[in-house]
Amino acid sequence: MKAHRIALIAACAMAASLSQAQAPAKLKIGLMLPYTGTYAALGIAIENGFRLQIAEHGGKLAGREIEFVKVDDESDPSKATDNVNKLVKRDNVDVLVGSVHSGVAMAMAKVAKDTGTLLIVPNAGADIVTGAMCAPNIFRSSFSNWQPAYAMGEVALAKGAKKAVTITHKYAAGDESVKGFREAFEKGGGQIVKDLSLPFPGVEFQALLTEIASLKPDVVYTFFAGGAAVKFVKDYAAAGLKKNIPLYGAGFLTDGTLDAQGADADGLFTTLHYADSLGTPRDNAFRLAYAKTYKMQPDVYAVQGYDAAQILAIGAAAVKGDLSKKAEFASAVEKAKIDSPRGPFMLSKAHNPVQDIYLRQVTSKENKLVSVAIKGLADPARGCKM
Ligand code: BEZ
Repeated sequence: MKAHRIALIAACAMAASLSQAQAPAKLKIGLMLPYTGTYAALGIAIENGFRLQIAEHGGKLAGREIEFVKVDDESDPSKATDNVNKLVKRDNVDVLVGSVHSGVAMAMAKVAKDTGTLLIVPNAGADIVTGAMCAPNIFRSSFSNWQPAYAMGEVALAKGAKKAVTITHKYAAGDESVKGFREAFEKGGGQIVKDLSLPFPGVEFQALLTEIASLKPDVVYTFFAGGAAVKFVKDYAAAGLKKNIPLYGAGFLTDGTLDAQGADADGLFTTLHYADSLGTPRDNAFRLAYAKTYKMQPDVYAVQGYDAAQILAIGAAAVKGDLSKKAEFASAVEKAKIDSPRGPFMLSKAHNPVQDIYLRQVTSKENKLVSVAIKGLADPARGCKM
């Protein structure tokens, strides 16, 4: 009897260890996002969206459970290379997801390119990531800085503006956003009378606002996001500029920020690849699921996180969970139509979304859809050799 029980216990132990041996290893995702600083809310929304899509797959991708290794990158490019190297070399992640800040994303893209690690960028718009740095293992679920900015250049012209002042944080995203606006605005005969900037993440806008008042342009074009966007919109109104000089922006100016900006944001026009009132069944379902799960409304960052996980899910399914099969992963993603809440989109050859850019206007604390500013806008992917 005793011997029988021992044999039974041994058999059970063996069965348990066999089934453990057969369970595929967890899929390790290196999530490198800002959780502190001016872009903290953006990082949180991206993670929320990402997790929501994973939950819709029952918490697994291609049969593999998910393990997150999280890093707060603080939107600090000087720490980015160390941070991403740790994820790749120490933690052996299967895929990198990040980040928000263009300077951080560029460092991530360099490591991804050098090591061949899969990278999905869920926000940062650095043009170069799907331009000169493009690579078969690098994908973006968001936008290039050029896309919403170029669209706003056309919108400003259509609204009759001839002279503009630009104002932004002085780093890749701000510079490229202004460049994209300038390209369209000057092409149509507009003139930029002055480019103003301040170092990231500074929010001392007063002297710059005084300069805008004395320059008296027809419009101001701006790129600010997160906490800085909240303060800029409030300061612009407090300086008395809002009623005299229309403030236009890439949509980050008013996305995820409207509760804090209050009435100071009312009426602002922005361009972006998402709006709060698309009203499609797909977007309605996403918004409902997000609101139920997180007790808050989604924004563009949540959508981009959700779609980053959709890209991963499509690639992972195609390679049956074996993410070392990079070429097969890429080929599946390249052929896929991503069923995004923003509207369906495909990736360009350089792996950046080809997408509609919406003109939105802030009304009743929402970025309401006004029109499609440019349909199916593809980033020019300058310098990409793929
Ligand atoms: C960027 O650095 O690329 C970025 C940051 C916040 C919003 C949009 C773009």
